[in-house]
This record gives sequence, structure tokens and C-alpha cells, in this order.
Amino acid sequence: MRRLTFRRPDDWHVHFRDGDLMRAVVPHTARAFGRAIVMPNLTPPVTTAAAAAAYRDRILAAVPEGVDFTPLMTAYLTDGSDPADIVGGFRDGVLAAVKLYPAHATTNSQFGVTSIAAVRPVLAAMEAAGMPLLIHGEVTRAEVDVFDREARFVDEVLLGILKDFPGLRVVLEHVTTSEGVDVVRAHADRMAGTMTPQHLLYDRNELFRGGIRPHMYCLPILKRSTHKKALRAAATSGEACFFLGTDTAPHLRHTKEAPCGCAGVFSAPTALEAYLKVFAEENALDRFEAFASLNGPAFYRLPANETRVTWEERAHPVPQAVEVPGAGEIVTLFAGETVDWSPVA
Ligand code: DOR
Ligand code: ZN
Repeated sequence: MRRLTFRRPDDWHVHFRDGDLMRAVVPHTARAFGRAIVMPNLTPPVTTAAAAAAYRDRILAAVPEGVDFTPLMTAYLTDGSDPADIVGGFRDGVLAAVKLYPAHATTNSQFGVTSIAAVRPVLAAMEAAGMPLLIHGEVTRAEVDVFDREARFVDEVLLGILKDFPGLRVVLEHVTTSEGVDVVRAHADRMAGTMTPQHLLYDRNELFRGGIRPHMYCLPILKRSTHKKALRAAATSGEACFFLGTDTAPHLRHTKEAPCGCAGVFSAPTALEAYLKVFAEENALDRFEAFASLNGPAFYRLPANETRVTWEERAHPVPQAVEVPGAGEIVTLFAGETVDWSPVA
């Protein structure tokens, strides 16, 4: 039985929501990860340093007793964002980064950025302060094929941002294409890419395996197997510019199993199991710690976690769902299946 000991990992991309849903999901991330970058796409979105500080306190109140977990907060960029508030929040240690959602790209992105021109002053201030910009990289024009939206964003928007703000530190979140991998690598001195479990495990066939599978629907959508291959090579390469970000995105079952279902895969309870499976399949367990525990903190200029965790290749069954008392349940990645890796207590 293979065993692996590594520094406690961090998750550089999570959605916690708020209220009852938040209280149901936070313990799952906090158990497995030391820190997490918390995305700000609530309704209304978290757009200011003060709102992020208040949200951080609500999250901390949901962390189980005795669990060491630090939420790292982000602000949602809008056309009206105030550069002084954003950069002030970064200098005060309240904000770790800013998230750019192109308007209408995904869940609760209707308040997002309508044109890069509108946010130039904020980007310039962030560039000067060394504050990372986290990007949901998809164009949103209805005529662009949903499978092409990331590659088109790289060409039409991202390269322009990188050129106009040569000192800006950028994360392309949830990279799903070889074009995304290439642009991150080409700017690795000041850029990084996060990768989700589902984009490393599955290609777009999984959306239709035996019928339509709403729990595999997320944005950016799963891509062809050639892209999956490029992602797996990048994640397992050990290169510092690629690291773990689950994009765990809880939605109640009835909002996904619906005529117009929500986008998001809820992976918090089984994310490490999923990443370990990928690294084991690629014979790259020796590079797991770089991806899960070292590259992320290095990019964010934080120390790596000091505590170690041990996992072993021992199967365990995954429950069907996580209950949200009074509201319903959230279906988990690998629900009802058996996974190969388990934590050693
Ligand atoms: O699938 C997704 N779900 N992609 C996103 O970008 C947002 C997320 C969510 O918040 O539900
Ligand atoms: Zn996300």
C-alpha cells in the first residue's frame, strides 16, 4: 500500500456561499486544507474590504472547534471598484486578491466587469501594490461556442491585460485548455494557473455518459480529452506556475437537477482523493506536494504550512451528499463511488 506524507495543502479557489449553505460546506474544506482563497460571488457580491472582513468573520465562526483553517479573502471587481479601497484592503491584510468575472460569465457574475477599460485604474493600482488579479477567463458573447470561450478569452482579453500591465500578477483560474496552459507557462514569472479535480479527471464525454449529468456541469465546461491531457501534464510537472484550486461550488441538488441547472461541481469532501488519483495514475506522486502545498503559497508570497498530513492508498466509500439542514442536500464529486486514497488519522 503506497503512503504519502506532505505539508498540509491549501485550496486556492473555493466557493463557500453564505448562511446555512456556508455552515454546511466550510467544515469540509477546513478539515482538508490549511487555507483557502474564498471567492466573492455572493448576492450581493463582496466588493469592498469591509464586506470581505465581515464575510471572513462569518466563515471563521463556521470552522469546527480545534481545526486550524485560514480563509483568504477576495474582492469582486466591478466597473465601479475603488482602487484605494481595494489596495488599502490588500495592504491591511484583509484582501489577498481581486477576482475578475466578465459580466454574465457564470454564477452571480451579473455584477461583473463589462469592459477592461472601466477597471484600468484599479488594475494599475494593483500592479503597483503587487496585488494578484484572479481571472475567470471566458468571453461571454452568446455567439461564441461554449467550448471555445476560454481560448478566445486568452486571445481577445488576457494577452491585452498582460501587455498593458506588465507588472500585474495574474492567476488564470480553473485552466481547462491547452491554450490556457500555454499562456500561463509563457508568463510564469508573474502568472499562475489553478486546476480543478474535474478538469484533470474528466473530458466532455463525462457530461453525457449514459445520459445527461448535471452534477458534472461547471464553468468553464469540461473540454476534449486533448486538453485534459495537457492539464494533467502541467499539473504533474512540478512547475511552480501550476497549483491546486478546486473551484468547489456547492449548489443544492434541486437547483442542478433542473430544466436550467446551475454550474458548479461540489468537490470539497473528496478533492484531495481526486487529485491523488490523478497524480498516482500519472506516476507523479513525488510532485504532489509541489502542486498541493508549495507552489500556491510561493505565488501568494506566504509561507508553506508547517504541519504534515499522511494519506494512503486505501479505498473508502463516498456518501451520496452533504445535508444542509432545512434546505436540502449537495451532491458531492464521486457521490456513491469508492475512492482509492484515504487520510491516515
Ligand atoms: O461552475 C462554476 N461554478 N464556475 C464558476 O465560475 C462559478 C461557480 C459557482 O460559483 O457556482
Ligand atoms: Zn470559481
